Amino acid sequence: MPIELKKTILVVGGAGYIGSQMVLKLKEQGYQPLVLDNFSTGHRQVLNEVEVIEGELADRPLLDHIFSSRPISAVMHFASCIEVAESVRNPAKYYQNNVANTLCLLRALCQWEIKHFIFSSSAAVYGQPQYTPIDEAHPLAPINPYGRSKWMVEQMLEDFAHAEDLTYVSLRYFNAAGADARGRTGEMHPNETHLIPLILQVASKQRQAVSVYGRDYPTLDGTCIRDYIHVDDLCSAHLLALEALLAGGGSKIYNLGTGSGYSVKEVIEVAQEVTGQYIKIEEAPRRPGDPAILLADPSLARKELGWQPQSSDLAKIIEDAWRFTIYQLGKTRVLPI
Ligand code: UFG
Repeated sequence: MPIELKKTILVVGGAGYIGSQMVLKLKEQGYQPLVLDNFSTGHRQVLNEVEVIEGELADRPLLDHIFSSRPISAVMHFASCIEVAESVRNPAKYYQNNVANTLCLLRALCQWEIKHFIFSSSAAVYGQPQYTPIDEAHPLAPINPYGRSKWMVEQMLEDFAHAEDLTYVSLRYFNAAGADARGRTGEMHPNETHLIPLILQVASKQRQAVSVYGRDYPTLDGTCIRDYIHVDDLCSAHLLALEALLAGGGSKIYNLGTGSGYSVKEVIEVAQEVTGQYIKIEEAPRRPGDPAILLADPSLARKELGWQPQSSDLAKIIEDAWRFTIYQLGKTRVLPI
């Protein structure tokens, strides 16, 4: 019987939070991930037994070398800058890294006739919601350079797919959260701004308190509601998108969220239950640009990809993130699963 060669998938940003989880999933599913990462924020220790190339996305000779020397079936792109506030302070960094460097990647991809591309987009492309839950037809009106950079790449993708032999899936993440269920990888951002890791820093005594940005939103308890989606569910969607493209499917855009939301106060309460630790809060003013409610309508991904989140119950998200936090602190060497 002929041995079927494992398909090679280039994972750009494969040392980061979501990219590294994707690398684990690709391996488990019999693909061969090849990582390209500049390690500006990524971590090497999660990438055991995976080929890793350290380098820049803007390094066209390096991209030519990668594409000319290996049989790459598809590219997944996770290598974005992701801090909204930083994007307002330093838009050049976002347009350079998220837009210009992605253009460099797309040009190389087309020259080397790589036919499939999966892009990590964001709910930030919608801006302030005009209705909720948000479906993919919701108007696009990003309110910061981060969101605009994601939208620009989506526009480029549409044009490239018209002009070239390229199909793509753009996945608009809502609030990515959680960690690998076996504690192998998770969220380790140098300047953490996201709610759940900040709460867990308080629970693990690395931080005194977590700020609650605004108590006067038009929600039941006055705090903002978000749609938290487990990183493993995000990766399952990527896998389904990959399989759809490899099977000849066309270019698509999908929301990735659960459709259910939790308020900041509810997240803190569930975190207290899961960790058994008191979480001290500090009241703070609203953070500029935060919509009161952000909820996905994920029905298109369910219908077309057959995607169904399995791990995005809030307690499960926090349990996995907490296990990873504890593991990182070296307080236990035991992986409970
Ligand atoms: N929050 C606090 N205190 C904190 C941090 C956050 O109260 O210390 C609140 C925020 O105000 C917000 C909620 O917790 O209401 C979630 O905030 P995050 O910073 O964790 O996430 P965002 O909803 O701001 O951001 C997410 C993605 C972004 C994306 C954005 C819009 O992480 O990449 O949704 O889609 F741009």
